Amino acid sequence: MIKRAWWKEAVVYQIYPRSFMDSNGDGIGDLKGITSRLDYLKELGIDVIWLSPVYQSPNDDNGYDISDYQAIMQEFGTMEDFDEMLAEAHRRGIRIVMDLVVNHTSDEHRWFVESRKSVDSPKRDYYIWRKGKGDGQPPNNWGSCFSGSAWQYDDATDMYYLHLFSKKQPDLNWDNSAVREEVFSMMDWWCQKGIDGFRMDVISMISKTADMPDGKVGEGGIYGDFGPYCIHGSNVHRYLKEMNEKVLSHYDLMTVGETSGVTVEEALKYAGEEEHELNMVFQFEHVDLGNVNGKWNRNPVPLTEFKKVMSKWQTCLKGKAWNSLFLGNHDQPRSVSRFGNDSPKYRELSAKMLATCLHMMQGTPYVYQGEELGMTNYPFTDIGQFRDIENLNAYRELVTESRLWEEKELISCFQYKSRDNARTPMQWDDTENAGFSTGTPWIGVNPNYKEINAKEQVGNPDSVFRYYQKLIALRKEQPIIVYGDYELLMPEDASVYAYIRRLDGQSLLVLCNFSSEEKEADVPAQFFGKGAEVLISNYGRDSADGIGKLRPYEAAAILLETP
Ligand code: GLC
Ligand code: CA
Repeated sequence: MIKRAWWKEAVVYQIYPRSFMDSNGDGIGDLKGITSRLDYLKELGIDVIWLSPVYQSPNDDNGYDISDYQAIMQEFGTMEDFDEMLAEAHRRGIRIVMDLVVNHTSDEHRWFVESRKSVDSPKRDYYIWRKGKGDGQPPNNWGSCFSGSAWQYDDATDMYYLHLFSKKQPDLNWDNSAVREEVFSMMDWWCQKGIDGFRMDVISMISKTADMPDGKVGEGGIYGDFGPYCIHGSNVHRYLKEMNEKVLSHYDLMTVGETSGVTVEEALKYAGEEEHELNMVFQFEHVDLGNVNGKWNRNPVPLTEFKKVMSKWQTCLKGKAWNSLFLGNHDQPRSVSRFGNDSPKYRELSAKMLATCLHMMQGTPYVYQGEELGMTNYPFTDIGQFRDIENLNAYRELVTESRLWEEKELISCFQYKSRDNARTPMQWDDTENAGFSTGTPWIGVNPNYKEINAKEQVGNPDSVFRYYQKLIALRKEQPIIVYGDYELLMPEDASVYAYIRRLDGQSLLVLCNFSSEEKEADVPAQFFGKGAEVLISNYGRDSADGIGKLRPYEAAAILLETP
């Protein structure tokens, strides 16, 4: 029997504050903007907001480079604005989970400013410093996630510091107990304020191996892979247990770790019911499908592979740990463009189908802002339209400097995969700038906002928004959706994703056609005829008759009162 918990029954909505709602016309989303839209989220029915970083930051990586963990980014407002937002969310029964970015700080954080001054600085050991190999060579060949070497030379002491992300994001040294104590007391400060949990940024990377050998260079690559030496490092579980004991266990929180590269076996350590680390982790196997030598490609995701990955996580964590369910976030392209079909004909149907497929699984679903509207990728054509450091650096390294890539080819991969696809402003209505801002938005608004926007969808009973609202409501009514077992049907079928959930003498059949053609589904006989109740259908089906024939992108969930 699975232990009940509020965060297992909750639906989370992720807000990327810079792009959500601008209250003062400077083109940048802010906290007052969020507060002004809480009623919209209440109407959608979500329980928890995961707030991407709102702390003081020079914004090299849009807030994932923090210079003060206990201050609010000026562009986003003040601490009073934060307190008001938190109180207003709580008043509506909505919890707020903060983004905890503690693998690294900004290079403008006072710890780093102090650390880089001299080898004797009291904060020297807060970061990871090494001597170069001589001849201007860094300590090893590791590449950063945002292109270039993972090491930055620093004049003041003639040494290099490690940054797995941008050079303005130096990695903290978690082996130093003073660093851990600082982080824990900062977390405690936020908990005292009344926040409801943490999403922990690249938390799988906080423990690095002591010796740092060169990493393997992939085909056509320039730098070595730091993965084996920095991901799921030898002390990561020790540090998380310590964090749990010293902070997390003192409060009623929801915690989710971003753990890229995580396997089921590792996930059971991070999120195992008896491990006292985290509630759940984000795994990335399904969104990384199709990748070879990194993410810049346009490879489609074969449905059979997708089903295999999702089903593995559904069955292997069962009763032992808890899944987080997502198709999109601020680091991924728009889910309907990646996994569905964003053509005018099929956008709505396929967005609803994807939502059905995900929300009927076991785990806590995460909705990324605008996903509930079926927002799509942006029609990028030119490097000047991108804001993301990942794209700008990759372009410089692969096109401008090395000419390893044709410009057209790389932009075409960016169109498909850029994180900026998810970061264009939320589309609120059909007025200028989609109602996001009265000023000039910091990044382009998707030109399709006149057709795709919240105002239209809230008023339209058949909209993607209304469909999400129904899916979220169903989760509150039907324990089988939260706690039922999962079994995959028709694993080899390349177009239909079909599975059954079971709980206490009930079964729930979920059928999703991932293709633009009509498809036959091999539906177990008991689901035909009377007694089978259609819980939700994106074609407005009210009976299960003929459910064996699925129309393009059709999805349905059917409940039966027998096992
Ligand atoms: C995580 C964040 C991403 C950020 C990176 C560095 O992957 O989700 O947006 O760029 O960590 O903090
Ligand atoms: Ca603003």
